[in-house]
Amino acid sequence: MLNKNYWQTRYAEKRTGWDAGNITTPIKEYFDTILNKNARILIPGCGNAHEATYLFAQGFKNIFLCDWAQSPLDNFALKNPEFPQQQLICRNFFELNIVDFDYVIEQTFFCAINPSLRKSYAKKVFEILKHGGTLVGLLFGQALDLNQEGPPYGGSKDEYLSYFEPIFSKTVIEECQNSIAPRQGVELFIEIVK
Ligand SMILES: C[S@@+](CC[C@H](N)C(=O)[O-])C[C@H]1O[C@@H](n2cnc3c(N)ncnc32)[C@H](O)[C@@H]1O
Repeated sequence: MLNKNYWQTRYAEKRTGWDAGNITTPIKEYFDTILNKNARILIPGCGNAHEATYLFAQGFKNIFLCDWAQSPLDNFALKNPEFPQQQLICRNFFELNIVDFDYVIEQTFFCAINPSLRKSYAKKVFEILKHGGTLVGLLFGQALDLNQEGPPYGGSKDEYLSYFEPIFSKTVIEECQNSIAPRQGVELFIEIVK
């Protein structure tokens, strides 16, 4: 069962194969074009949150991190002592009660939740974004293998569109052109606007 204990155990046992060790190129290149350093940014299921390390160093100050495993948040705080503690939120994303984000960053969180929660994920992201706010990042672009125990759980562009298109005003999902080497050809870049 993919509960909080499952993930805490994965961190304790250092079975964190999803961790890219750095901000990934697609997210870096996207935010390198964003001039508004006051933008409110949420990274749900942030893990070690390498994106936040990079973005904070670039001057983005309103970054909020959410994960229900405490240890990656503690690691992040140790490495980034100037990052505001109150912006590190150890909670179930689906129970988050902070809103008005300009950006929500997706990086291997959607593929880590039970696929039965995907519709709820789309609704929750919609709820917490500002009007005109954007969900940006990457989805695993390979078909969902029903025999695989997962995570990660894959999916198709058409399936993903079915969650986002009905509620968001703009949904762009395309093959990612600047993935990091191990993820080339297997991820989709998304830019989904409320
Ligand atoms: C595959 S890891 C990805 C971590 C990070 N985004 C990265 O790319 O390294 C998935 C993360 O989502 C967290 N997570 C899973 N379900 C969650 C939930 N319902 N609420 C908050 N965090 C959750 C896990 O604890 C884990 O840190």
